[in-house]
Amino acid sequence: MDSLTALTIEKLYGSGDREPAVAPVRVDLNQAQVLALAAAAGQKPPADLRAETAMDFAVSVARGLSHAPRRLDCRFLYDARGSEIFERICEQPEYYLTRTEGAILAAAAGDIARRTGPVTLVELGSGSGIKTQIVLEAYSARHGPVRYTPVDISKSILELAEQEITAKMPHVKVEALHGTYEDAFPLLASYSPCLLLFLGSTVGNLDSSEADRFWEAIAAGLMPGDFCLLGVDINEDPDALHAAYNDGAGYSAAFTRNLFERMNRELGASLNTPSIEHVAAYNPEWRRVEIFARFTSTQSIDISQLGRSFRVGKGEQILTEVSRKFRLNHMVPYLATFGLAAQQIYSDEEKRFAVLLLRRV
Ligand SMILES: C[S@@+](CC[C@H](N)C(=O)[O-])C[C@H]1O[C@@H](n2cnc3c(N)ncnc32)[C@H](O)[C@@H]1O
Repeated sequence: MDSLTALTIEKLYGSGDREPAVAPVRVDLNQAQVLALAAAAGQKPPADLRAETAMDFAVSVARGLSHAPRRLDCRFLYDARGSEIFERICEQPEYYLTRTEGAILAAAAGDIARRTGPVTLVELGSGSGIKTQIVLEAYSARHGPVRYTPVDISKSILELAEQEITAKMPHVKVEALHGTYEDAFPLLASYSPCLLLFLGSTVGNLDSSEADRFWEAIAAGLMPGDFCLLGVDINEDPDALHAAYNDGAGYSAAFTRNLFERMNRELGASLNTPSIEHVAAYNPEWRRVEIFARFTSTQSIDISQLGRSFRVGKGEQILTEVSRKFRLNHMVPYLATFGLAAQQIYSDEEKRFAVLLLRRV
């Protein structure tokens, strides 16, 4: 595998540390259950699983600002503008994640396609799908025509990815679904046999209880013998982490600020956004990069839809996103508690990133 190292599973079981038992899942399945039934009956599910409204955003912001300490749901970072900025972040020299994961996939995709056999590819939080194109090429080279279902909350990037893949890869049948992970969970079984992709270390945006609920739902949705391809950031270097989330060109800062610009656009919040600063720092105790918006002057966030206003003081910081970093000797046994057994782990020489091929037992 050239410069890449395929690690054996045995090597990765270190101390055998296990995370605590999982919390029970509570997912609102009403609309999604109907769609799952339709899918099981052979009907193509509609592309729109969620009609997201400004009211959804308003409620989420009000909840987050009522929380102590204040935090906002990172899902709302990805409107059309946010997705566009995220693509620029991925191109920055400091942001090693995309580049490293892309190289790992380029070296490993053939092996992954061989190990899983012909399957439907389903991807959560698919974004632009640029790295996924490498995997799709390997599947079509080995198995012929491929069925691919990307799922993303950002409609603009989803449409762009669908158009690009359809134009470039006529052998790939794309059936994009606009919605959240939770919207897609009940549909997973209808795609079996499948490979579920979750790339970009997006799993690091979930805190530990969100991750427990996420994996519980994935385990419930996949059928025994289905596969999951998970990309995780395993970088331990605090300087590299700091640089990746504070790029010199300022795209990380623009990404954080866009959440507040979105409040202006969709909630009529009338915030002075240039005075809101991006603060990203690695917290070694929690092994995560924490991203905050710091208000350099006192402002009010008005949410007209709810008739509410929240005062944010000068110097106050609001958590907008976390990006957890992982150790494989914790991650592998943790995933095993959900019935997801690591089959193969692909990594780069510097051990900055890992791609795990998991099998639902
Ligand atoms: C960190 S980006 C990763 C994109 C891509 N997978 C990659 O590796 O470059 C996260 C993606 O997940 C989407 N996303 C974030 N939260 C989501 C949610 N709750 N449900 C569905 N999609 C979500 C975003 O719109 C974005 O495209």
